[in-house]
Amino acid sequence: MDKRPIGMFDSGCGGLTVLKEYTKLMPNEDFIYYGDTAHLPYGDKSPQEIIGYSKKIVEFLLKKDVKLIVIACGTASATAYEYLKSNYNIEIRNIIEPVATSNLHGNIGVIATTSTIKSNAWEISIKKLHNDVNVISLACPIFVPLIENGLTDTPVMKEAIKEYMKSFNDNNINSLILGCTHYPLIQEKIQQELGPNINLINVGKYSAKNTLEFLKSSSLQNDFEHSGSCLFFSSGDFNAFKSRATFLGF
Ligand code: DGL
Repeated sequence: MDKRPIGMFDSGCGGLTVLKEYTKLMPNEDFIYYGDTAHLPYGDKSPQEIIGYSKKIVEFLLKKDVKLIVIACGTASATAYEYLKSNYNIEIRNIIEPVATSNLHGNIGVIATTSTIKSNAWEISIKKLHNDVNVISLACPIFVPLIENGLTDTPVMKEAIKEYMKSFNDNNINSLILGCTHYPLIQEKIQQELGPNINLINVGKYSAKNTLEFLKSSSLQNDFEHSGSCLFFSSGDFNAFKSRATFLGF
């Protein structure tokens, strides 16, 4: 048993979609979530910049004595994970591997931030195990600013989704990976645009399942009698972050 909290971070509120999946599956765990809102968005930054921000957050979480760290951000998973894994002596988990190592076949779409798509991390991870899978990647840079500004239910979001999803019209994809953790917040709208036959993959669900298996196999789960909690920190305006978190049900 390990009663220490799980650390988690994202550039903003997107990682809360990951946290949500974790709290559903692991109600006995405590979580410390860090939203790096002062540096949001990560999606248009260089790998060096994202590594720099991520290092500071990892060091902050280490001081909080977390038992492991989940990078609840697609962009930091794609650009900073390898660096963090090699430079810190703590279990660090990204949100790409649990999906890339799952059962995938045929043509798979990936939507994510510009930095994630540029890194090619999804294609590289998927191809390691699934040589025959065809990965079609698309950067959707407008989504995160709209979501962070609470503009999910607006005509401009509808138009943006319509425009981006056109790219998949001719690809015959069976699944679309939501490779940015902000995207589950517009999942229903994307599904409506693509129709019910395309399976949308929420990376948070895969990550939570995978981490739970890890906790079990390493005997790191918290006391089953314990009722878990979430503690939030942000580098930017905490009240603005808190109201986004409250809106998302935290
Ligand atoms: N939620 C993030 C991701 O998964 C970050 C998006 C951003 O800051 O641009 O990529």
